[in-house]
Parts: sequence; structure tokens; C-alpha cells
Amino acid sequence: MNELYLHPMSGAYSNAKLVLNTSDHPQGSVTWKSPSNLAIIKYWGKHGRQLPRNPSISMTLNAAHTTTTIHYRRREMTASEGISLELLFEGKPAPKFAERIQGFLGSITDIYPFLRQLHLTIHSDNSFPHSSGIASSASAMSALALCLCSLERHFFDTLQDKSEFLTKASYIARLASGSASRSVYPYMSAWGKHGDVPGSSDDYAVPFAELLHASFKTMRNAILIVSSGTKTVSSSAGHELMETHPYASTRYAQAGQRMSQLLPALQHGDWATFGQIAENEALTLHALMMASNPSYILMKPASLELIDLIRGFRADSGLPVYFSLDAGPNLHVLYPDEHAMEIEAFLQSSCIPKCEDGVWISDKCGTGPEEILG
Ligand code: PMV
Repeated sequence: MNELYLHPMSGAYSNAKLVLNTSDHPQGSVTWKSPSNLAIIKYWGKHGRQLPRNPSISMTLNAAHTTTTIHYRRREMTASEGISLELLFEGKPAPKFAERIQGFLGSITDIYPFLRQLHLTIHSDNSFPHSSGIASSASAMSALALCLCSLERHFFDTLQDKSEFLTKASYIARLASGSASRSVYPYMSAWGKHGDVPGSSDDYAVPFAELLHASFKTMRNAILIVSSGTKTVSSSAGHELMETHPYASTRYAQAGQRMSQLLPALQHGDWATFGQIAENEALTLHALMMASNPSYILMKPASLELIDLIRGFRADSGLPVYFSLDAGPNLHVLYPDEHAMEIEAFLQSSCIPKCEDGVWISDKCGTGPEEILG
């Protein structure tokens, strides 16, 4: 284990040592498949180099994932040259996405100076429909970060230890998209320093699977697509608005308190406490959007109709079925695997008809990313 791993705090990975010798590694490729995640305690508000204002915890998804391949070729470069990149999203050029990746890779050359010594061709493919309105940054950026760490391991023989590898991948993913830091671990993962999560850090996420009750490891997540349109306000703009938000400090304190309430529930299989916190967090996130200046609303009428239906069904059936929302109008319906039959019968008859084009994604808690060896 190298000394950087023992103290991987802000800036600890910034070292100029990761430079390739002239004739090493002329070309090659790495591929990772990495899932999206759904936050139960939401990260909303950031500062500095993508550091969170509050701790968060998420379930790692299974069906919703991105597969990313980086093909690299050594190139001659002069000191002033930036990143040489060609990016194909689902087989086609995607200029906006390419610009974001180019900017991100250029911003981490303090950590990975070798990136400037390569020409990169990146292929990124999502398992979920492009137009489903599902946030893809967590899966896309975690897959990219994992590929970068595989390159580091391959070039420099570092990161041989699995936990060291995943810590760094989470750190790099965080720099690309905060929520992506949580996608590198199976089942559940926590990001942001919190007294009740051993080893937790603002710099990277840590796994939260060991203490997790078995019923949460098989948790289902039915994603009901209410609208597949692009969001009117991006997450980055939302985070920014938290900087002047009148409720910001109360919100950050609340997130910490809710972590303290949620963690024992996750350990003991207490679905009622879990569900109450998950729903309140989802509505708090959207309430913060509605109360920011300027205010905005990402839910649609059908989001509210579906929330009513789910709460009504829960009251009538007594079954543990709850909802969450990401920064968008689509609903994530959460329930234990053992009740999947009854709950999915209800979703099919009452909820799916209200989805856009009847589209929903049957997902569940997943086992985390996978390296695809060529
Ligand atoms: O990772 P970002 O910057 O796209 O922020 C995502 C924030 C939420 O998805 C709304 C909440 C979360 O913790 O994932």
C-alpha cells in the first residue's frame, strides 16, 4: 500500500510522478461497466473542488449502467498541449458530452499528467434509453474514473490493492460528478464525512454493504418515467443556488441528523423508518428547488399523481412501498424483493399507464461496477 493511500485527503493524489517513459505502452484499451445510483439522503450543495456540503448515502443500481471503453495511443506532445480526445456516445459523436469530458480530463492533469501523453478515443454506452430522463452522469463518470484508474494500475503498477483502487476511483469520479463517487461500491455507499460512518470522507465515498440488512441488498427500484425531456435546470445550477439559499444551513444539519436515523434502520431492516426518510428526502430536495431564488419546479403533475397512488396503496395494503425522486420528475419506487409480485401488479395496473409512453425500468440494488477484460 503506498503512502498516498494512507492519507488520501484533498489534493493528496495530485502528484506529477505519473508520467510515462518515452517508449512504454504504445497503445491499448480498458473497459468498465458501472451503474447509476439513487441517493436516499441527498447531496445538494457543494463547495471547493466538488466537495459536498452534507453527507449522502445511495443505493447502487443494477440495470441502469454505462459501459465505457478508453482506447489510448501514445502521442508526441509539446508542453502546451492539452487533452487529445475523440468521444463517441452510443456510437455517434456527441459534442456537448465530449466538451464536458475534455474539460474534466484537462482539470485532472495534476493527478494524471500522463493523460496529455496519449490520444484517447472514448466509447460510452448506456443501458437505459437515451431519452428516458434517467440521470446518466453517475454511471458515465464512475465508469470513466474506473477506466482511468485501470490505466494508472496498468502503466505504473500502483493501485494493486482493491480497496485502494476503489477509493481512488471514487475520488476521481467525485471530481467529475459528485454523485458518481458513490457508484463504485456494491449495494450502498456513503459520501461525505459523518461521525456514524467509519472512514467516511468528503473526498471519496466508502462502501456501506457490510452492515446492511439482507432485505436492503435485494431492494427493488421501479423507475417510473414521467417525462424523458431534458431538465430545465441542471444539477450544477441547483447546487449553485444552494450557496445563497435561505434554508441552506438548516438543510445541511438535517441531512446529518437523517443519516444518524437512517443508518440503524438500514442495519436492522427497518423499512418503515427507511421509507419515511427516503420520501421526506425526495420531497425536501424538490422543496429546496421550489424555495431557491430563482425558484423552479422539476416535478410534473403526473409525479404528484403517482406519489398519491403509492401512498394510497401503502395505506390500503400495509405493504412497505415507498418513493424517491432524483433531480427530475421520474419516480423511483422502492420495495423489498419479497413483495415484488403484489407491488408490481399494482404498478402495472395503476401507475405504468400514467408513465410517458408506458415506460418504466425494473431495477434493483446492484453488485457494483465490473471491469470487462478484452
Ligand atoms: O452529482 P451531481 O452534481 O449531478 O448531483 C446530483 C445530486 C442529486 O442527484 C440530486 C442527489 C444525489 O445525491 O445524487
